[in-house]
Amino acid sequence: MKHLLNILDLSTEEIGELIATAEDIEAHPEKYEDACRHKILATLFFEPSTRTRLSFESAMLSLGGNVISMAGANTSSAAKGESVADTAEVVSGYADIIAMRHPKEGAPYVAAKHSSVPVINAGDGGHYHPTQTLADLLTVHREKGAFENLTVGFCGDLKYGRTVHSLIAALSRYRGVKFVLISPEELRLPEFVKRDYIEEKGIPYTESASLEEQIGKLDALYMTRVQKERFESEEEYARLKDTYILTEEKMRTAGKNTIVLHPLPRVNEISVKVDEDPRACYFKQTRNGKLMRMALILKLLKDKETAEKGGVYQVGGGGERERNTFVSTSVKCANPHCIFPCEQELPPLFYRDKRGTLCCAYCDAAAENGKETTV
Ligand code: CP
Repeated sequence: MKHLLNILDLSTEEIGELIATAEDIEAHPEKYEDACRHKILATLFFEPSTRTRLSFESAMLSLGGNVISMAGANTSSAAKGESVADTAEVVSGYADIIAMRHPKEGAPYVAAKHSSVPVINAGDGGHYHPTQTLADLLTVHREKGAFENLTVGFCGDLKYGRTVHSLIAALSRYRGVKFVLISPEELRLPEFVKRDYIEEKGIPYTESASLEEQIGKLDALYMTRVQKERFESEEEYARLKDTYILTEEKMRTAGKNTIVLHPLPRVNEISVKVDEDPRACYFKQTRNGKLMRMALILKLLKDKETAEKGGVYQVGGGGERERNTFVSTSVKCANPHCIFPCEQELPPLFYRDKRGTLCCAYCDAAAENGKETTV
């Protein structure tokens, strides 16, 4: 694999290997303390972050490597108008691996196309957040022992919650999984996620607006913050932000082994009183995130080294999408959060999904709701 843009760039076997490596790192940290000596990680964060950026940096330092960091769009030449493409081209000359967060969907895909080193998507708009998914998967694996046959509930902002999209994509590959999607009408799961990872695979799912009605049926409950930064209207955000608050009282109606996950940061959606509940796993997720990011850095650097020695280097970075992508100037992406219109002279890349719908290769949104539209 070359880049990690979408969690599906990793096979289920590779995810199993990363989990095994993470477990070994925790058991024998001394084996890894020099593993990335003389290697440099660049963290390019065009959006705020606590966990992702600092756990990536802590991960690289614990592997004996070094870190260069750009923590905010205003502290780099992006503030002068430099493109993502040029930034990636330049930074890949300074670092061995890049972790990028960006508010525009598909920005890490653009970076990957212009980088000579592996690019990791550390969150792109409301699209994907694959390394949070690695943290989530290690947590589920440790708490439940396996991914098969789990009923997983997602609650809150399923529209803009990029961690939800990536975790659904990841879990959709395991036998017997069921999803319960709990959200207000306005924050329902985007079509591309439902289409590609649930309906296409025939996974049973329920959509509901009531956490109270669903909580007792779940093996895992994934709470999410309503993503204030993605809303066009302050009033709309204010109206929806406290739709779901997980309290001790609600936890009394959950199963005795129902684990509670949250990518964090939380605002108000889980009462701090729930933190003492042994089923609350969200702080464990943050620690598991560092272990999985260590395992991922090791894997990507090792894959690159193997390729440089003439070994097999899978294209990765977009998985199946990469192989079917074509340029079309007769359609346009309808997603206002897509990177495509923000960068100069990007090729208008599209692909057809399994149903034949034309989708933007940067952000996966259907072109004008699936209709071909003349520019
Ligand atoms: N979960 C997560 O992405 O947290 P940060 O925004 O703090 O990185």
